[in-house]
Amino acid sequence: MAPQAQSRHAAPRPRSASLQARLAVRLLAVFVFAFFASGLATFLISQADDTEIPDESLLRNFESLRDYVREESDGVWSVDPAQLPAIVSFVLRWPDGSEIRRAGDAAMLSAIDRRGVPDGLANLPPGATNMSWWLDPASKNSYYLISRAVRIEGRRAILQVIQVLTPTDSGLYALVDEWLGEFVPVGIPLLIVLVAALTLSLRSALRPLENLRRRAARIGPHQTSLRLPLNDLPTELQQPVLAINSALDRLDRGFQAQRAFLADAAHELRTPLTILAAHLDTLPRQVATDTLKSDVARMTRLVNQLLLVAQLQSMTVDPKETTDLSEIAVDLAALFAPLAIRLHRDVGVSGAEQPVIVRGNKDAIHQALRNLVENALRFTPEGTEVEIAVDPAGSVTVADRGPGIPPQERHRLFERFWQGEYKKRDSRAGGAGLGLAIAHRIAETHQARLEIDDNPGGGAKFTLSLPLAA
Ligand SMILES: Nc1ncnc2c1ncn2[C@@H]1O[C@H](COP(=O)(O)OP(=O)(O)OP(=O)(O)O)[C@@H](O)[C@H]1O
Ligand SMILES: [Mg+2]
Repeated sequence: MAPQAQSRHAAPRPRSASLQARLAVRLLAVFVFAFFASGLATFLISQADDTEIPDESLLRNFESLRDYVREESDGVWSVDPAQLPAIVSFVLRWPDGSEIRRAGDAAMLSAIDRRGVPDGLANLPPGATNMSWWLDPASKNSYYLISRAVRIEGRRAILQVIQVLTPTDSGLYALVDEWLGEFVPVGIPLLIVLVAALTLSLRSALRPLENLRRRAARIGPHQTSLRLPLNDLPTELQQPVLAINSALDRLDRGFQAQRAFLADAAHELRTPLTILAAHLDTLPRQVATDTLKSDVARMTRLVNQLLLVAQLQSMTVDPKETTDLSEIAVDLAALFAPLAIRLHRDVGVSGAEQPVIVRGNKDAIHQALRNLVENALRFTPEGTEVEIAVDPAGSVTVADRGPGIPPQERHRLFERFWQGEYKKRDSRAGGAGLGLAIAHRIAETHQARLEIDDNPGGGAKFTLSLPLAA
């Protein structure tokens, strides 16, 4: 795959979750815990009270039956149902299934019917009393039921008397019922809505942090003047962000000093080099003079490229600036035609009949493409052509018939001073190893892509793709 100017150095993704996700997960955990803990607490309270519910009124009621029964010597009651007071709801059940019932309150009797005879009650030992409570789902009432083994006309039977719980008592059981029956189906969707609302409000509360992150991501060696925004930041973060901004100020001053030094040094070196070249021109032609001239030419190239690097470090592109790629391509072909002829090579342009207007700075794009054409002319063999092709989609391709660039070397191509095999073969030949780094930097400042590929049929193919002007 071709290396791209924009995505070569993608930062590794942080592994820890965002602050927003952490807060949301923790709050959700607290809500879920509170939700189930409240249910569990209700359940436990009801369980504890179940064993000790005071049942005095029912017992009193039940005991009042004593007036109407006869207690036998073995402790078993003999009952004459006809004698039982009319206000008491009761059911008398015999083991054979027959029964007598009387409704002091018809609703209570039907509650007894729904309950039936609890397990094991049929075998209640003589004289024993069983008490139970239950929540009747039909009436939503809680009931106490007292069952006692009695003897009626010499036969064993069970007398069941029922009482509805007082509202205070039944409230407890109703609470359990309510929690299970109403709060769970309503509470869970409510919980989901709550979590969604929580996430949204957290997101909006943490938006200043997101702005901070976006701005910080844009700060780099080429964007040292940017600072982190302070507006809307929580007070806790104001001081740390101020401290980071002042650290960035100091770094910026250091960068500026470095850039100025590089630019000044390159600039200052140009004058003595020009004088040196002029002196060499006056000397009689010899092998040593020619070698010196080529060294001075190489040095001049290095100094010019360094000056360009220094200028590009602080370069920003005006987003409104536009330029015509076709015009640049034609200019470059005209510029390099004499050199190409001298070297017995050719430079051709295609696709430049119509203007192709892209967003970017003309001089910078010219410099980037110039470096690509210089390389291509250097590497394409004698008798072959360097092709500059303009694409209406906003790109220019520079292709040659040279050795191409091995895939394993492509990732280093945009490094400063890297010259690969070429340098190893001939350390005196050619350039400074800065041309592609310059082209890459220009692509970066233009949000453009610089890609390298094999030229079909042999050679290297460099493509610079820029955003089209709207
Ligand atoms: N068209 C090409 N064909 C083959 N190799 C190339 C081509 N273009 C660049 N290279 C390789 O990439 C290296 C870096 O190129 P770059 O333009 O950055 O530096 P340079 O040409 O050596 O020096 P200068 O700074 O003067 O341009 C070259 O030295 C060469 O090895
Ligand atoms: Mg070069």
